[in-house]
Amino acid sequence: MANDVLVHLQDVTKTYIMGEVSVEALKATTLDIFAGEVLVILGPSGSGKSTLLNLIGGMDRVSSGELYFRQEALHLASNHQLTQYRREHIGFVFQFYNLISDLTAWENVELAASLVDHPLSTAEVLEQVGLGERLHHFPAQLSGGEQQRVSIARAIVKRPLLLLCDEPTGALDYQTGKSAGGQPAARQHSADCNPQCGHRGYRRPGRAHEQRQDCGDPNQCPPGFTGRN
Ligand SMILES: Nc1ncnc2c1ncn2[C@@H]1O[C@H](COP(=O)(O)OP(=O)(O)OP(=O)(O)O)[C@@H](O)[C@H]1O
Ligand SMILES: [Mg+2]
Repeated sequence: MANDVLVHLQDVTKTYIMGEVSVEALKATTLDIFAGEVLVILGPSGSGKSTLLNLIGGMDRVSSGELYFRQEALHLASNHQLTQYRREHIGFVFQFYNLISDLTAWENVELAASLVDHPLSTAEVLEQVGLGERLHHFPAQLSGGEQQRVSIARAIVKRPLLLLCDEPTGALDYQTGKSAGGQPAARQHSADCNPQCGHRGYRRPGRAHEQRQDCGDPNQCPPGFTGRN
């Protein structure tokens, strides 16, 4: 594996089994994600984008195949090792936010910050996503887009090696999404976010493929993530 490969998937499949019914959410998927790269995963609803991010984020386990983070074999990791992996290395912006309803915006972000040794400042990150005036609001007192920005702040505050964003700006207007987008290393979205990214990758239903394409304007990459231009 090349040194700058952060994540490597080799023939990864994921099948959900529900009684008699099984859903093949991910078919043999082979993919490298490089350090410093911005990768966008595109595909229709139900094509397995969230499934793929959940596997890479150590939230779920592959059904078959191999999944590495650097040299760490996640497909062989114990539950404890996966928890450590998520805590230390992963920032995750969930498709449905997953904020803790009994905690304020500040507390939701601070909880994540408390898990790592050198977090960013919770107040500063919330300020950065435009919520400096909403620190003490509970999720139910925030709009959908504001909750999404708390979720982005919570992922960024840990300074993760890998930022996984599942529809990170789906509830935001273009300008807010651009300013709150942070520095994703891998994310999924519809085609309209392409201009923000140095690279993009496509998915076809149930199968990732290798094509990467420069969007032609590396200056538009989020800070610190200039892609492999
Ligand atoms: N926990 C689960 N149990 C059973 N089936 C599941 C589960 N999670 C996802 N699926 C199925 O796996 C397939 C892929 O789902 P996934 O959520 O990864 O799609 P997606 O590409 O993220 O879709 P969207 O764009 O709508 O968010 C879907 O057919 C879905 O119904
Ligand atoms: Mg999804």
